[in-house]
Amino acid sequence: DAGKSGYNHYMLKEINEQPRALRQCLRGRVNELLRIVQVDEVINLETPNAVQFVACGTSYHAALYGAQFFRECGVMAQTFLASEYTAATVPMGEGTLVIGVTQSGETADTMRALREASAAGATTLAMTNVVGSSAARECDHAMYIRAGPEISVAATKTFGSQQVAAVLLATALIGVADQSLLAALRGLPDHVQTVLDSSRARDVAEAYLDADSYFFIGRGYNMPVALEAALKTKEITYKHAEGFAAGELKHGPLALVTEDTPVFALLTAGVNFEKTLSNVREVEARGGPVIAVTDSPKEVKGYADHVLEVPETHSTVAPIVANVQLQLVSYWIANRLGRPIDKPRNLAKSVTVE
Ligand code: G6P
Repeated sequence: DAGKSGYNHYMLKEINEQPRALRQCLRGRVNELLRIVQVDEVINLETPNAVQFVACGTSYHAALYGAQFFRECGVMAQTFLASEYTAATVPMGEGTLVIGVTQSGETADTMRALREASAAGATTLAMTNVVGSSAARECDHAMYIRAGPEISVAATKTFGSQQVAAVLLATALIGVADQSLLAALRGLPDHVQTVLDSSRARDVAEAYLDADSYFFIGRGYNMPVALEAALKTKEITYKHAEGFAAGELKHGPLALVTEDTPVFALLTAGVNFEKTLSNVREVEARGGPVIAVTDSPKEVKGYADHVLEVPETHSTVAPIVANVQLQLVSYWIANRLGRPIDKPRNLAKSVTVE
């Protein structure tokens, strides 16, 4: 218990360690003038023609986010669940970089996918938290996310650090830096701290403790965050939770929405805001309670039953901040339900079987 530094659970401790983890991930990688990103570990790596991410669980959600960023940078990028990846069936051209995102660096599914990719001729890179892990040793390159040890089975601080690492990696490899994005990354630890200091997630958790099912919706960079929030909720509360691309709600899941299904909507400013808001209206029209995680509280007024506010920042970075609110919601629901938060039943921190 000494290792918990006064927190009841490692998970809450690790959620609160995020500002530090993010600072460590950024340290020495973004230059003072916000012009250059340098990741020492990949200094000899050429710009890839295509990128394939392979990962599991929370790391898969970070990989979805990372691939989207690579695509926005003009690089063809795909994401695969490591357990579904077979190098033989995925076309791989010259200069394909396969990135295994794995906190532990030991996940069997991810290791197998990386080995297959390597045998098929790809350059491999481990994006990991553990120096000397199998992934770090076996891949051609390793980039460390530097989040510090994560004890809780449910991954929290490593998720944000993986997202940031993916943005740094893409920027370093492509060599073109968006200064406003880099400024936002530098401000990210403080923005996460603001959320930690002011979050009303505990009240929201209390208000929806009795729900049997929780939904999470988001578009663009918020989509992987919606998936991750649902995963976190399942893992530690043992309640049903689903994450959806907000636009897909009307193609099926909306049939499940009633006044007993709280819908958490990721509504951070950007190109997807208005459309997500219109999806929220569809929920509202069916009587579903809406909890908006937003940097635009005025705009969501009238549509949301509860608001979890996040500071304004770059639209690519805002979802990383918004995620922290949802980590806290799942934590407080699980806490009130008396779940064994750090060691959920049937789950392991690192899964070394396929
Ligand atoms: C296990 C853990 C998850 C984790 C996943 C991938 O299932 O319970 O929290 O996201 O493995 O782990 P990795 O170490 O590869 O990121």
